[in-house]
Amino acid sequence: MIDPERFVAEAIERLRADVPDKTLIAASGGIDSTAAALIAERALGPRARAVFVDTGLLRAGEVDRVRAFFRSSGLAFDVVDAADRFFAALEGVADPEEKRRRVGAAFIRVFEVEADRFGTDRLVQGTIAPDWIESGGGSRDTIKTHHNVGGLPADSRLRVVEPLRDLYKDEVRAVARHLGIPDPERQPFPGPGLAVRVTGPVSRDRVRRARVANAIVEEEIDRAVAAGAIPRPWQYFAVLLPLRSVGVLGDNRVHGEVVSVRAVESIDAMTATAMDLPRSVLARIAERVTRELSGDVVRVLYDVTDKPPATIEWE
Ligand code: XMP
Repeated sequence: MIDPERFVAEAIERLRADVPDKTLIAASGGIDSTAAALIAERALGPRARAVFVDTGLLRAGEVDRVRAFFRSSGLAFDVVDAADRFFAALEGVADPEEKRRRVGAAFIRVFEVEADRFGTDRLVQGTIAPDWIESGGGSRDTIKTHHNVGGLPADSRLRVVEPLRDLYKDEVRAVARHLGIPDPERQPFPGPGLAVRVTGPVSRDRVRRARVANAIVEEEIDRAVAAGAIPRPWQYFAVLLPLRSVGVLGDNRVHGEVVSVRAVESIDAMTATAMDLPRSVLARIAERVTRELSGDVVRVLYDVTDKPPATIEWE
């Protein structure tokens, strides 16, 4: 385990060497990029500016939460609404790697525009070790192209700076705690967002359903954690499957979609164990998902697969 105070001091020195003038910061509001952003702010002050991209693929309430935190942190930042660009890039795309590539490319294009406006070619990102290891950066196979690693086009003018590149998640959390970031134990959320939580083709409608289902899973599991019924999972979320199934609504037959719920325990996301959630929590999630998405979703499944062989996210 690293010493967070020493790590931050050294990262500040490295950033000052890597960024001669100004830099943009790719800020998603997650622990990794927020830690990178606060370190860049300490290193460079007003020469660093964060950009938070509203991709249209975020969870319920996320834009407001991130905006409120950045306001209170003193970091200079912009929120860019780029949902139209992301949905245009993803419309009808079903292949997981293609989704990741398109999301990555759309992010980079947005950052290029913002970098031009700010007058820099540097981009600080919160990439951590598992991101590039699982993107095939080590001697392994590409498991998934993490959007923040695989998406940089060869012709991009941006030069990426990654102050957390060698850290694992537990180490980033220690750094985040040291920096005063709220709730450093909160669950990770993938950069491609809800695009990889709708398996099969992406559309605004399917993303909306995935957003509602994810919010329900988070609320119900948070409630069970607060009541002391279960330990807090590493990650807990819902995935909209590319399936249709028959259900009944009143006296009518419905042919609706299917949601899978996942809750896993893990130390560093490299391996994970499916959690043994109480039946009552699962029943409440199934009841709410099929009621609040009535007519759209008719069936809720629980995923009991560990990583390996499955990954944590479905795509
Ligand atoms: P998997 O699904 O590969 O995920 O077992 C391992 C961890 O990484 C998160 N994840 C991502 N994080 N960009 C990220 O920053 C991404 O593209 C990405 N894809 C997956 C995932 O949620 C889990 O915590």
